[in-house]
Amino acid sequence: MSFSARGSLLFSPLTVRGLRLENRIVLPAMVTRLSGEDGLVNGDVRDRYLRFAKGEPGLMVLEAMGINETRSGPLLRASHDRFVPGLKDLVRELHASSPTKVAAQIIHFLKISRSGWRQRVQDLDRKAIEGVVEAYGDAAARVRDAGFDGVEMHMAHAYTLSSFLSRMNDRRDGFGGASVENRLRVPSMALARVRERVGPDYPVGIRFDGEEAIKDGYSVGDASLFAVRFARLGADYVSVSAGGKFEDAIHVEGEPLYPYTGYSGDRCMPGAGYPDGLNVYLSEGIRHALKERGCHVPVVATGKIRTPELAEKILRDGRADLIGMARQLLADPDWPRKVRDGHADTVVPCVYNNVCKALDERFHRVRCTLWRKHDLHAPEAPSDRAPPVWPAGARVTATGHRGGVRLEWTAATDDGGVYGYMILRSEADGPFVHVDSARGVSLRFDDHSTLGGTPYRYEIVAYDLAGNRSRPLGPVAITPEAPHG
Ligand SMILES: Cc1cc2nc3c(=O)[nH]c(=O)nc-3n(C[C@H](O)[C@H](O)[C@H](O)COP(=O)(O)O)c2cc1C
Ligand code: SF4
Repeated sequence: MSFSARGSLLFSPLTVRGLRLENRIVLPAMVTRLSGEDGLVNGDVRDRYLRFAKGEPGLMVLEAMGINETRSGPLLRASHDRFVPGLKDLVRELHASSPTKVAAQIIHFLKISRSGWRQRVQDLDRKAIEGVVEAYGDAAARVRDAGFDGVEMHMAHAYTLSSFLSRMNDRRDGFGGASVENRLRVPSMALARVRERVGPDYPVGIRFDGEEAIKDGYSVGDASLFAVRFARLGADYVSVSAGGKFEDAIHVEGEPLYPYTGYSGDRCMPGAGYPDGLNVYLSEGIRHALKERGCHVPVVATGKIRTPELAEKILRDGRADLIGMARQLLADPDWPRKVRDGHADTVVPCVYNNVCKALDERFHRVRCTLWRKHDLHAPEAPSDRAPPVWPAGARVTATGHRGGVRLEWTAATDDGGVYGYMILRSEADGPFVHVDSARGVSLRFDDHSTLGGTPYRYEIVAYDLAGNRSRPLGPVAITPEAPHG
């Protein structure tokens, strides 16, 4: 049965410093690499965000925009007034096209080089620190001038303010060390400056790590204190991420360090092997700590939250106030509208294979592997409700292959074309569960996550551009061989 939005918390509004969000779904910032090195809004950037806006999430946070002139491949910028007109046009179009509210994430980062060297917050003198604080204030003012509904300060992952918060920040001059207060000092100065520049009525969000996910890094204890400080300084929401640190990043010879290559990177953008909602304990702990101290600042939870049932449960259980959904909305930006309108069963599910992340790492334009090969954005969903059909005699076969199972099937047909195939698997007569998807051109899938000696059944479901799903083809049964001994 499809999820019912009526009476749900997920589709109830929330007002953040006077800004009404129509639902609790947030598109967290996601770098697109669609701008040039010039940092200006171009047609591709515009089309990407207009596509997201069509899905009508409550809040959309535009990708991290650089606030300093340090080079960083293709990245939007808010580091100079010359960027304001392009951003202004974009926001105007977004507002005209959708009820979604639009914020901008602003980021300060330090220098890195292809040799693996990186500048650290320990290298910044007092003047440089003041420069960081001023740059946040100036960029926030530009974001407001451009007409955004709010500004989000990036204090997560590997970047400057996050590195001040980090337990790896061992400065001894009052801006680091064991003391939470000292590690909070520069982020607090930046937040206070931002508030000064944007005024008392403007929504300011903070994104930071609930846990660094590196050895000896901080976890939810320190993070809760950070959140309380941000709330007391007037932050209007806190968005909880995890990991994404340089400390455990894997250096590829001749390439700049990418902070999502180690375990902490996995925790930030968890792949298919991790459980759904794995980081929710962080937003839960932080929300609890805030409430205990009388701070009623909304908390955003993010990290492999893909189904409306899970999202609703997180809200009902008081583990977060807003649900961040990055890659699922990249895979299918219409998720909020489909779910709201009772068509959750036409959502195209993200398969968390992190192809988008790999594109980001290489500074290539970020797209989803499930889209059609040459599409730069998620295809428009037509309004038809006719699902793909299987031709007479269609069949799916399963054979043992390299320690796993190989599935092959007959192509389905659809008026507008088959967009993809979902692979459903049942283990030992249990329920069928979606394990992965293949693009529409593919008629083969290798399942590497089987256990020899276990009976499996598989079904294939074809879906079209609107997400309409065929009846399942199959089932086909197989018990992969167990190794001897
Ligand atoms: C391609 C890509 C780019 C990202 N860029 C940003 C960013 O600019 N700022 C940020 O705070 N997080 C960024 N993230 C992290 C996401 O906002 C999100 O926290 C993460 O993907 C986990 O959420 P999900 O499981 O819903 O995708 C990015 C993630 C991806 C996959
Ligand atoms: S590329 Fe993979 S992980 Fe990224 S949005 Fe698409 S399906 Fe999800």
